[in-house]
Amino acid sequence: MINEYINNNKDRFLDELFELLRIESVSADSKFKNEVDKAAEWLVNSFTKLNLDKVEKIKTKGHPIVYAEKILDASYPTILVYGHYDVQPADPYELWDTPPFEPTIKNEKIYARGSCDDKGQMYMHLKAYEALQETGKINFNIKFMIEGEEECGSGSLEEFVSSNKEKLSADVIVISDTSIINNDNPSITVGLRGLSYMEVELTGPNRDLHSGTYGGAVNNPINQLCEIIASLKDSNGKILIPGFYDNVITYQDEQRDEINNVPFDLSEFKSHIKIGDTFGEKGYSTVERIGTRPTLDVNGIWGGYTNEGAKTVLPSKAYAKISMRLVSNQSSSEISRLFKDHLNKICPKSCSIKITDHHGGEPCIVNTDTKGYRSAYKAFQKVWNKDPVPTFDGGSIPIVALFKKELGLDSILMGFGLDEDAIHSPNESYGLYNFYKGIETITCFYQNFADDEK
Ligand code: BES
Ligand code: MN
Ligand code: MN
Repeated sequence: MINEYINNNKDRFLDELFELLRIESVSADSKFKNEVDKAAEWLVNSFTKLNLDKVEKIKTKGHPIVYAEKILDASYPTILVYGHYDVQPADPYELWDTPPFEPTIKNEKIYARGSCDDKGQMYMHLKAYEALQETGKINFNIKFMIEGEEECGSGSLEEFVSSNKEKLSADVIVISDTSIINNDNPSITVGLRGLSYMEVELTGPNRDLHSGTYGGAVNNPINQLCEIIASLKDSNGKILIPGFYDNVITYQDEQRDEINNVPFDLSEFKSHIKIGDTFGEKGYSTVERIGTRPTLDVNGIWGGYTNEGAKTVLPSKAYAKISMRLVSNQSSSEISRLFKDHLNKICPKSCSIKITDHHGGEPCIVNTDTKGYRSAYKAFQKVWNKDPVPTFDGGSIPIVALFKKELGLDSILMGFGLDEDAIHSPNESYGLYNFYKGIETITCFYQNFADDEK
């Protein structure tokens, strides 16, 4: 019945999603502020059409949060759905084969910014609820909280969650904003990394200097910054900031075997991104390097003369954006502090250093001994005919730890993306198969959760 409904309404579901994908809701860039607001309005409209109650566009210091609920009976269990309607910038535009905000179907995939992360995945929940509403009796309550600032650090969320605990109270939280191993091997995410994101500014002389008149006698902040960065890791990929690993969970051999026992294809991993070999911390597999080990990476570095031709200059300034992915039980603010202390200490007197903090987030591990996890597990078994594999994902969704802290609730990370969907990159895509199969799996999860007594 439900599948028939989904099947009969396939094209309309897609047309609706396309409307949302056409809205350029880039949250990081203030140029798109109106578009972000338009996407929030569009969602308000969609929730209203779904006949939900208390549909609101809630103002925040940043971009609005969209909230909606349907409380059918106080004795029913309540499911809180979280997602985000904002997207990453589409730059560099010239690398897109089709325009990022003109959704296009090719090779059975939807190509558009946000198709997978997270508009396409978030919208599956609205369509799953619609399918249940139209085909049967619903025996659960639902709340939707869809934010517009996930891709720029969820700055307004902590305050919103902590001052709206009653409004957000629920029995489980479900988020579709992660990936599965592949379409033959569905998985449920049981761990996400956290993040510390720093910006470093190194200043040498007070102005750019002639590199002949001064060169060799004055420290070059670009050279110096490179040296500092190079000193942060040893040749085994170990991070050398004192105290960095203090709270990292070490897994025993048995647990490591379990973590590594996933159908991960190393040669496919390499060939998809066209690398000759992998690279990372010695003594750990690629699965562990992504899932259970922390990182330190330069995300951008600039300074000096970079235009056409040659300019013999000894630059005054050098900059880098450096981020660290964290694992349990590292704390984002603590790691940021260790980073700052260490760099301040190793920067020589010939330069001055300024370090600023960007947004961060805490890592999380999902408790699998819960009704929510079992409901998700059974939903995958039924719809995908396969036992889902628990996996540790490398990305971050800071709200998961926040929900745990403020509401005491575990989130079920039931995503349907694939690594090849190229989220955050040009030509982001989302498979039609995953979109429709995801809707079906979500309906099944909702029902399992409502029907399970425990
Ligand atoms: N949906 C992603 C996170 C993700 C992707 C988790 C794939 C697992 C698998 C999310 O939108 C994202 O991009 N998060 C940022 C967080 C940051 C802005 C605080 C990230 O991971 O870089
Ligand atoms: Mn996302
Ligand atoms: Mn993202």
